[in-house]
Order: sequence, then structure tokens, then C-alpha cells
Amino acid sequence: MSSADPAQAKPRRFLPCGALRGRIRVPGDKSISHRSIMLGALAVGETRVSGLLEGEDVLATAAAMRAMGAQVERIGDGEWLIHGVGVGALLQPEAPLDMGNSGTSTRLLMGLVASHAIETRFFGDASLSKRPMGRVIEPLSQMGAAFEASEGANGSKTLPLTVRGANPAVPIEYRLPVASAQVKSAVLLAGLNTPGITTVIEPVPTRDHSERMLRGFGAELDVEEAGGERVIRIRGEAELRPQTIAVPGDPSSAAFFLVAALVVPGSELTIENVGLNPTRAGIVEVLRQMGGDITEINRREVGGEPVADLLVRHSALKGIAVDPAIAPSMIDEFPALFVAASLAEGTTVTTGLEELRVKESDRISAMAAALTGAGSKVTETEDGLTIVGTGGEPLRGSANSRTKTHLDHRIAMSMAVTGLASRDGVEVDDTRPIATSFPQFEALLEEVTR
Ligand code: S3P
Repeated sequence: MSSADPAQAKPRRFLPCGALRGRIRVPGDKSISHRSIMLGALAVGETRVSGLLEGEDVLATAAAMRAMGAQVERIGDGEWLIHGVGVGALLQPEAPLDMGNSGTSTRLLMGLVASHAIETRFFGDASLSKRPMGRVIEPLSQMGAAFEASEGANGSKTLPLTVRGANPAVPIEYRLPVASAQVKSAVLLAGLNTPGITTVIEPVPTRDHSERMLRGFGAELDVEEAGGERVIRIRGEAELRPQTIAVPGDPSSAAFFLVAALVVPGSELTIENVGLNPTRAGIVEVLRQMGGDITEINRREVGGEPVADLLVRHSALKGIAVDPAIAPSMIDEFPALFVAASLAEGTTVTTGLEELRVKESDRISAMAAALTGAGSKVTETEDGLTIVGTGGEPLRGSANSRTKTHLDHRIAMSMAVTGLASRDGVEVDDTRPIATSFPQFEALLEEVTR
């Protein structure tokens, strides 16, 4: 996993390139891939998944579900078969669970374990070990689970940690204090094996894959919209029915190619099969507001999610003030957006992005430093970045320095794209973390710039 020795880092210089052309397909959605394995592992019978993202994060989830008794088997490229054990029947793993770099695996699996008679330890790489886990420990403790966590910066609770699940757990009504699909999902997954009704109140909507998929697997779940809030109720002691799932392409991976094609002159690229769930599609809307030429072709449904092919052409982008209300629907795409802003004409202002500081890295300061190093005019604020773009001129790049990616796949890919739109190129200190979410990234980049 990317927790590997820093001495083994794989630096790479990304050089300016010609136009991006052709048709590509990005790998399966990471959020949906994680959930396919987890829910498949809880349904009695055979779940078939196609288009699964075979990145390290999802493989960490697969290994954990195997360690808890499910049969999780790769039968072909992106094709997986899962034989589940049934809700309530997960087994005590023999060894601590290695979460690698994956916050989604950690937080969702903590939810699953919290309502099973399981005691286990979770650990991860240096990046994951800094991330706050108090946000899931708090509601899961209310449900009766017990935790022994490490202490992180500013009194935060972090990995490694031990969870002792409660069986039976106690149903709660929980109002999310942060806009987080991971916290929402942890509570809903714990609720699956909790007698009675578990309720999550979401003041700001976040990605709703858990709700869609839990329903698809036959859980009794309802969502009520009341006064701008979403109230999600799940009935526990559920029996899940196995499913056949086609995972749509990940809009978060597509974002790097969208931005690259928008900023590199002459580009015309089609990205096929991109998931456009409204709780995920903010990046497409914001890039369009900036003047990005993105056309949706053949809108359809794949695996219960809206999907389209996106035709993207090089465009003269303009800086904008990004509405903070759209942030949850593009929370992982800000590093890519900051690159687009660096090449736009005028000023782009982003605010309300405190959550970016607790992702795989502090993405506000990491991107501020990385883009400044490549010649972009960036001002860091507490909750965002203000960027004055070049108006389409290539950025200077960085002939002699190495960009720090802090074990963060999205910083690495964003700065690779910056290199394409620069004069001197950009050197990324370690490309290995890219494999957590998008193992084919570099090969696809070569394919479309050939
Ligand atoms: C995810 C939710 C988001 C996102 C992460 C995947 C999920 O995290 O950043 O990459 O699959 O639920 P938060 O819920 O912490 O915002």
C-alpha cells in the first residue's frame, strides 16, 4: 500500500504536452465500489459487481470484508463476486485491519463493526493516521460501541484505534455536525444491525450513494426532506438481498481529465460513462460557470445512477467566486479546480472549504504551496484559496524543485495536470499514491497526449 517506505518514493516530472484527444473511460466510482463490497458482504448469496475500481483503497475494503468472513473474489477485469455472510454475522477478524490510505474504508467499516460482537484494531498509513476519527467515534459511542483511539494534533482522535462493537447496539437520532457522507454512512451501516430505527439528520446534503444502495439491497430506508434538511431513517436487523451492480465511472477521476482538456490548447476529449449523481456533479457545473465547454452525450442510468459521456473542449476559462453551497457536491474536486483557476482569466475565490484541511492531506495548504511553486498567484485563507489566473498562458512550472504531495493522490494528479499546462513542467515527489484511486491515470494521460 502507499504506506510504503518514503525512500521508495517514485518521483516524476510531468512535462508540457500537446492537445488531449480521443476517447477514454475512467475507472469505477470509488464510493460506489467500497459500498458494493461492504453491502455484498452483508447480503446472503451472490453479489456480482462489474466496473469495480481496483484501486488500493477499495482493495483495503475487500481485504477487511474477507477478514470478517465474506468471500470476495476477483473473476476478471473489474468483475467481482461476493458471497455475503448476512447482517449480524460478520466474524471477528484474526488480525488488525490495514486501511492503507483509505478514510472511506476506515469510517464506514467502523460503523459496521460498531453494531457487531467484534473487537478489532484499525491502522493505516502516515496520512490516514493524522485524520480525525472523533466524528465517527462520537455517534457510534452513543450507539454503545467502545473505542480506544490514538491522540492526534489538537486533541483529535486518530488511528490506530480499537473498536469494541455493541450487540445489540442502541438506535439513535443523530444530526451531522459536519457535512460528511462518511459519518452519515457509518451511522446508517451501524443502524443495519441495530434493533429499531436509526435516524440521521443531514443539514447539508452530501453524496447519497449509501442511501441509494442500501435501498437497492432491500433495506427499509426512507428519506424525508424537511425545511432544507434531509432526515434519513433506516430500520435495523435488515435482511439484504444480493445484487448485480454496474459501477459507473468516477466523476472525481474524470475531473483531472476535464481540467486537463479545458486548459491545454487544441484539446477535444470524450470521457465515457461518467457518473453524474447530482450530489457529485458540482465540478461540471462550476467548470461550466467558468466558461468550460463540456457537453453531455447519451445521458442514461447505470447501476441506479445517472451517467453520461462528457465531450470536453479547450476553453478560455474565466475566474469566478465559487458558491460555498456547492462544495459538498465537489468536495474531492477542489484540487483540480484550483488548477483550472490558475489558468483562467481573472480571479477565482473559494470559501467554506474547512473540510479540505482534513482530507488525505491539508489540501488547502498543500495546493497553495504546490501551485505557488509552479508560478500560480495563490492566496491562502482559513477556508479556501483565492487564485489570480494567467488568462490561458502556461504557468511557469518548476524547473528545479519537487512538488510535495503529502501521500495525497489528488494532489499528485492535480500537479501532474499543472505540469501539462506549464512551460518548464512540474515534478511530483511521489506518484505511488495515485494508485489508491486511479491506477491507470498515467497510462491514460499518455494515451490521450500521444
Ligand atoms: C466519501 C465521502 C467524502 C469524500 C471521500 C469519499 C464517501 O468524504 O471526500 O473521498 O465515499 O462517503 P467526507 O464524507 O468525509 O466528506
